Amino acid sequence: MILIDGKKAAAELRQELKHEVTDLKAKYNKVPGLTVILIGDLTPSQIYVRNKEKSANEVGLKSEVIKYPDSVEEKTVLEKIEELNKDETVSGILVQLPLPKHIDKQKVIETILPSKDVDGFHPMNVGNLSSGYESSVPCTPLGCYLLIKKVEPNLNGKKAVIVGRSNLNGKPMTQLLLKENCTVTITHSKTKDLKAECLEADIIVAAVGIPELVKGDWVKKDTIVIDVGINKTDNGIVGDVDFDEVSKKAKALTPVPGGVGPMTIACLLKNTIECFKRSQI
Ligand code: GUN
Repeated sequence: MILIDGKKAAAELRQELKHEVTDLKAKYNKVPGLTVILIGDLTPSQIYVRNKEKSANEVGLKSEVIKYPDSVEEKTVLEKIEELNKDETVSGILVQLPLPKHIDKQKVIETILPSKDVDGFHPMNVGNLSSGYESSVPCTPLGCYLLIKKVEPNLNGKKAVIVGRSNLNGKPMTQLLLKENCTVTITHSKTKDLKAECLEADIIVAAVGIPELVKGDWVKKDTIVIDVGINKTDNGIVGDVDFDEVSKKAKALTPVPGGVGPMTIACLLKNTIECFKRSQI
């Protein structure tokens, strides 16, 4: 079994990006900039944002975090986004989710210029991705995609089963694998026989938020299994895949933690650099 080392893959990607930033600096005499907006004091969000800032600095990006209290008015956030949209030193804008209830998430997402939307959540980027045009691609599925390609560079005709249909993961993951000529099945909570679907798969991406849902007898022996889940349980953090069981069956598997997570942040940096490059043309 190949244990897919997301930490190592992310470190390699950051190294590549660091060189790219050095080259861009030499060419344009400026570096890509990432601005993250963090609202409230949820601990997981604070940890994510700190990691994002640390990684951005490591590869040489200009990085800024703007913090607001939970009580901030929606208007204040939207005006700040408008200001960042106009700021030429800002290549990418990310508003950390989840947001407090009184702030309309979709309004926030749609206020970010599509060309600065490093999350790939703006409807323009969602549409472009599904039409096969150039777009920002959501960081987690992009990270999953790069890990899959490391194990299996040629995905032509492979059968992929996505467990979970979220806008954040399942749907964009589908688009990325379709582009690679996979036959993709999207499954979800109303799917009749999830085990039978998974047993058909050459690739399984589990992104459904149910602890250890995917079992050993759901998986063929040549299957690549990507676990996007981060679930808090009494036994600590576990993924959506039963690691002990599936690691005995699968061809390759990502651990939780140390699999998809580190790649997500590295892909955010990659997206920021892509936004910068497109803005220079
Ligand atoms: N919160 C958890 N994951 C994400 C993400 O990928 N993007 C944003 N903006 N917020 C998140």
